[in-house]
Amino acid sequence: MNVTECIKTRRSIRKFKPDPVDHSIIDSVVSSASYSPSWKNTQITRYIAVEDRTVLSGIADQYTPDYNSRIIRQAPVLMAVTFIKGRCGFERDGSFTTKKEDRWQMFDVGVACQTFCLSAWDKGLGTVIMGVFDEDGISELLGIPEDQELGALIALGYPDVEPEAPKRKTVEQLLQYR
Ligand SMILES: Cc1cc2nc3c(=O)[nH]c(=O)nc-3n(C[C@H](O)[C@H](O)[C@H](O)COP(=O)(O)O)c2cc1C
Repeated sequence: MNVTECIKTRRSIRKFKPDPVDHSIIDSVVSSASYSPSWKNTQITRYIAVEDRTVLSGIADQYTPDYNSRIIRQAPVLMAVTFIKGRCGFERDGSFTTKKEDRWQMFDVGVACQTFCLSAWDKGLGTVIMGVFDEDGISELLGIPEDQELGALIALGYPDVEPEAPKRKTVEQLLQYR
């Protein structure tokens, strides 16, 4: 699959086959995602691959809204994507480098998440990024260290659906030349 095809055919997948995902494949997707660009090459993004069904049920039962719980209950893997705080967007003395203050942290996590999802799709794996969850509850359940913050969840597995692409805006709506 070439890059354009990968970008255009990737879909958010919300229904998965029960088949497990080999750790060698997850390793390889994370390896590809490690080539994402990052603020001063700080590489702040980290991944926890949650496969334990008891932990997954705990997350789905307590810490996500129904529409995300339904996804997590049948996904073979849930990636908790975290980042090391206080590096990306910061100067060495702890001050912010730009007016965007600490928002570059989530920017870098977003770049890494998209690379992760595209690399997964290149290997036939479906993903959906989820932004709606109880951050404190999941952070405590997974024992995310104090120096890290939970940025996003990504369900991962072999797709059991082939969704149509949601409508996209046109280039004319998106782009201006000056
Ligand atoms: C930052 C972010 C947060 C998202 N949060 C959720 C979510 O909580 N639950 C969900 O089902 N989809 C979530 N999505 C997936 C979007 O709904 C999806 O990307 C969008 O509808 C376009 O569909 P496509 O990914 O198939 O192109 C999220 C996507 C992004 C980038």
